[in-house]
Amino acid sequence: MTENNVGDRRNPEGGRPPRWTRSQAMRIERAPETVAPVIEPPSEDPAADLHIWDTWLLRDRHGEIAEIDGWRVLFSLTAPEELLPGKRHDVAEIRFFYSRNGTEWHGGEPVFEAEALGQRQWAGSALYDDGDLYLYYTAAGDESVDELNYTQRIAVAHGGRFEADDDGVWSEGPWTHETILEPDGRWYESEDQSRGMIYTFRDPWFFEDPETGETNLLFEANTPVSTDSDRCDGDEARQEFNGSVGVATSHSGDPLEWELEPPLLDGVCVNQELERPHIVIHDERYYLFFSSHMHTFSPGLRGFDGLYGFVADSLRGEYDPLNGSGLVVTNPASVPFQAYSWMAFPYRDEILVQSFYNYREFAGDSLDGIADLSESEQRHLFGGTLSPTLRLDVGGDRTRIHGRLAHWHIPTSEEGLPNTDGYQPPEDVG
Ligand code: FRU
Repeated sequence: MTENNVGDRRNPEGGRPPRWTRSQAMRIERAPETVAPVIEPPSEDPAADLHIWDTWLLRDRHGEIAEIDGWRVLFSLTAPEELLPGKRHDVAEIRFFYSRNGTEWHGGEPVFEAEALGQRQWAGSALYDDGDLYLYYTAAGDESVDELNYTQRIAVAHGGRFEADDDGVWSEGPWTHETILEPDGRWYESEDQSRGMIYTFRDPWFFEDPETGETNLLFEANTPVSTDSDRCDGDEARQEFNGSVGVATSHSGDPLEWELEPPLLDGVCVNQELERPHIVIHDERYYLFFSSHMHTFSPGLRGFDGLYGFVADSLRGEYDPLNGSGLVVTNPASVPFQAYSWMAFPYRDEILVQSFYNYREFAGDSLDGIADLSESEQRHLFGGTLSPTLRLDVGGDRTRIHGRLAHWHIPTSEEGLPNTDGYQPPEDVG
């Protein structure tokens, strides 16, 4: 058996990355602290002609929301609204929006011309560093092949600019696109090694460690587990669910030079997809968040589409699950798929969580039933815009949703927010 040897850096005694264990995940249940209220459609949608899903902010090296001449910039995966929502992943394109006040957003133009890598582009992060832009993304699908495929590599675009005036922001190329990371087959599963669901190697997230100054890129990955491994007590069906939070480090701090490091966390035997991992520093501790789906939990476990989180004292520390199980935010049982792809960011002494409005008015244990509905019903059910931003009260390893803002409201810490005394958690958490 080749038990995932995680190398020497974190691991002088031949240890291993911290794990999200089955016994922790067994504790997942909906509670007033973790269930978000039912979402109503927004009265106005700044991108009504687009499906919008995974979304991220332009930030600086320190993780602060960056501004370009007073404008904040938001990036989203998008597809034309005419498309069936289930097909959007096959044509995803990154577009951007800008706002002066964090409530009214404009724009929706593509960031790149046709030159971006991959057949299509999936999620990433955006760094504004001393006037230079580094737009990290997932190059999904091998563009040298005609058929749609699911190869994933991590790419960056740089050399372009965002220009701004009083009326708005625009992207000005040319952008140079480079592949910066591919799975090594040792710590990170390659497409060939994958068994079961589609492998993952995507969603780069820039993170500079404020304690050590080290420059890192987190990403979603899988841990290679061979069939003769004793992981999951040798249960091959469970072993196929092998999600991990990967990390690469730039030892020089150069945003273009990365070396793979052992994963920060592994969810082998628990879940296949630890999506869009990112860190928020809160009370000097490291809160690691990612999104995951109900259908990507390993056999024998019941989880939800939700935001999951862990906390440690350092980036490569021993991560403890938040709220005992890892579950931080989920949807009500009556609309279990109403939001997805949560992104947490710090705001004064709390943490805010932004996500997109996914399938509303649709109950059940799986989204499979959606495909049986008429095309107009499928379009009607898909929110395809940003959800109301949630407010999290966080202390140690406990979290509690204690308020929410409007759809598309992404405040910076100079703004005051209303007090949340009147917030009522949903009564029926299911
Ligand atoms: C999460 C996600 C990301 C990926 C994108 C593809 O919603 O699966 O991991 O980058 O969607 O559309």
